[in-house]
Amino acid sequence: MLLGVMGNPIAHSKSPAMHNAALAACNIHGHYVPLHVTESALKEAIAGIVAMNFRGVNVTVPHKIEVMKYVDELDEAARQIGAVNTIVNQDGHLVGYNTDGIGYIRSLKEEAMSDLKGKSVLVIGCGGAARGIIYALLGELPGQVIVANRTVDSAYALAKEWGHLGNIEGCSLAEVNVKAQHVDLIINTTSVGMHPHIQNCPIEPAHIPSGIVVSDLIYNPLETALLQHAKAKGCCIHNGFGMFIYQGAYAFEYWTGIPAPIEAMKQAVNQSFTS
Ligand code: ATR
Repeated sequence: MLLGVMGNPIAHSKSPAMHNAALAACNIHGHYVPLHVTESALKEAIAGIVAMNFRGVNVTVPHKIEVMKYVDELDEAARQIGAVNTIVNQDGHLVGYNTDGIGYIRSLKEEAMSDLKGKSVLVIGCGGAARGIIYALLGELPGQVIVANRTVDSAYALAKEWGHLGNIEGCSLAEVNVKAQHVDLIINTTSVGMHPHIQNCPIEPAHIPSGIVVSDLIYNPLETALLQHAKAKGCCIHNGFGMFIYQGAYAFEYWTGIPAPIEAMKQAVNQSFTS
């Protein structure tokens, strides 16, 4: 079974280590390779999936949007989110999926909040990552989703676009401190707090409510300033590591049809961080 990941750059991707460990753990004879694909070569590279009989690929930065043009069919979620990160080759017919959002939600449910139904959620940011997460989140029937963004018009536009999928509203970053007081879960999808600006926090620490769940998509560092402050407030914290593992798990399951060996995948990624 031939698999791979297309991106530019791609050399530092942890996906090959993760998926090769998964293939080995399931006794599947196959290989998952990093594929350095430039923007101008994307179309030919996608055609190459069929030509070289790959079972599928992951697609990463900067190709997740552009690649939508080159698949034969788009999964409904990928179409609504507007990005593809996984392609399955069904006997020459390429189907594009987005496993980032559902991967994140599966990680959140397994590690921090098992049931999202009826919950009130504040999402900070509304870029590409947030779209995947919010779409998957709405599928869990939360009571309320508040999307706060620096460019407030994008938050309003998203709330309008997906208003038919659930109770969703947009707000400005200035309103975050007040809105946070009434939620069960805060999710940061922005790069605020990412290495090297690790002291930055997307919400004033004093306004993080005690005892709620706080999640940050960032995994460098694994414990951002937001999560450190939340921990000090007795919150349950959740980082971006699981999102990476579970987006891979869903992709693996689409390609192979069998449950992903989560522990082997986590172990391989942890090992590749230290090696
Ligand atoms: P990604 O695919 O990682 O989500 P993106 O699509 O560029 O990346 O989106 C980044 C998100 O983080 C956006 O919501 C962005 O806000 P804007 O829409 O106003 O650009 C938000 N963001 C990035 N840097 C930020 C900062 N310094 N402060 C607040 N929000 C920030």
